[in-house]
Amino acid sequence: MLGVQCRPVNGVALASSVAYGDLKAAGKEHLSFHSQPWRTGACHFRLRIQKPFLRSGVPSATRALVPAPPNGQSGASAVELDLSLNPRVAALKSSKTMFISDKATAMKESGIDVIRLAAGEPDFRTPQAIVEAGVWAAENNLTRYTPNAGTLELRKAICHKLQEENGLTYQPDEILVSNGAKQSIAQAVIAVCGPGDEAIVPAPFWVSYPEMVSLSGATPVIVPTLLEEDFLLKPEQLSEVLNEKSRLLFLCSPSNPTGSVYKLEDLEAIAAIVAKHPRLLVVADEIYEHIIYSPAKHYSFAALPGMWERTLTVNGFSKAFAMTGWRLGYLAAPKHFLAAANKIQSQMTSGACSISQRAGLAALNLGYAGGEVVAEMVKAFRQRRDALVKKLLAMDGVKLSVPQGAFYLFPDFSSYFGAEVQGGGTVNNANELCEFLLEKCLVALVPGDAFGEPKCLRISYAASVEELEEAVSRIEKGLKLLKRKESAIDRKEMIWI
Ligand SMILES: Cc1ncc(COP(=O)(O)O)c(C=O)c1O
Repeated sequence: MLGVQCRPVNGVALASSVAYGDLKAAGKEHLSFHSQPWRTGACHFRLRIQKPFLRSGVPSATRALVPAPPNGQSGASAVELDLSLNPRVAALKSSKTMFISDKATAMKESGIDVIRLAAGEPDFRTPQAIVEAGVWAAENNLTRYTPNAGTLELRKAICHKLQEENGLTYQPDEILVSNGAKQSIAQAVIAVCGPGDEAIVPAPFWVSYPEMVSLSGATPVIVPTLLEEDFLLKPEQLSEVLNEKSRLLFLCSPSNPTGSVYKLEDLEAIAAIVAKHPRLLVVADEIYEHIIYSPAKHYSFAALPGMWERTLTVNGFSKAFAMTGWRLGYLAAPKHFLAAANKIQSQMTSGACSISQRAGLAALNLGYAGGEVVAEMVKAFRQRRDALVKKLLAMDGVKLSVPQGAFYLFPDFSSYFGAEVQGGGTVNNANELCEFLLEKCLVALVPGDAFGEPKCLRISYAASVEELEEAVSRIEKGLKLLKRKESAIDRKEMIWI
């Protein structure tokens, strides 16, 4: 399969009319397809595809004739360039969340009034005390390389935070500060997984887990969970997939994309299974720990009896402190594993930005769980969640597990798959529903297949109440244009008079 993205070139089409789809690389040099009639500026595409890309599988030695540049900089008239990639990289999927966010941003920049609910980033400003600490660092010459693992001051503050808030005891040499939690997770995975290993990824999952596992050479083992069970991994499911190859289990609580939160007893039951497998380690992704709605409560997996030794705890500043652009996250792990991740970082990126580290220190000084400033943001997220949940539960054919944390909703819209669109066309799956909502209703969401659950769409409610209200009303209007298949309509939804 070859993923194709193209832009229609006829005059009618807007910048938003990007169609994409998969095609079988059947050796054809041309591919033709029509966009759906409901797409803005419906038009006909014809692509010419370079022969090398049509070979099945990942070409090991793809070569292409590269013409000499017109300015005559190259001595040769034409060179045969090897275009092959590392097979692990060639097989890597790019992040759909990023793709849709970028597309929605391009639409916005071209003057289209699109509401962007695709990105996973708080809409709040970074708290002032944090910004001031960053500015202070820049003005006071804290602009040099820091130690690879992060400044001792910051690592000590992280140890203090983990002790106070999470009941976890770490020493500064068991903390590795990185350019975001994404880097922390990638390094942890690459440090412990390799060819022949399996990593258990409960679905729905954060988009990057399986890709990071594949990049390490290990195999992701996706374990689907159910909306009816709040998308939580059941201990029996875990038992079933574990074997001597199992090296890693991912746990993300509160979860992106579902907002689900594991209760203490859920984690204890999982820990009891984990404890039986000496090779099994756990990545506990706790980046949303502070964005949680009581009575739900966050528990660190490493704090459970016997789990500290085998848990790689990841956290970061992006979400709770609205610091996505500062790029700061960390790994806390036993020295042996930490040192391996540290070594990777020392060869790949070195220490995180010195200015951000100072800002991170200020974030940790805001008080327990981020103090008042973070509590205010969480309060606002909660109001938005409550308002959206109410609206979504009232929509025909939409199923939802009420999220207990993070800032996402992950409703099941599958009863709309196969629906006819008023005016022509059908929406057949989450991708097409997302395209329809983006292009017809100007609301950007992410299709659930990116997270391993193709029945759902992810809605990020990191937007103002006004924007969210407008988005819901656009979605409602959009869904009214869809005539669901008889078989998709649950009779219980209908009110009989
Ligand atoms: C579950 C989860 N983990 C980790 C990250 C990475 O965060 P960052 O690299 O911004 O610290 C994200 C970001 O979206 C996330 O949602």
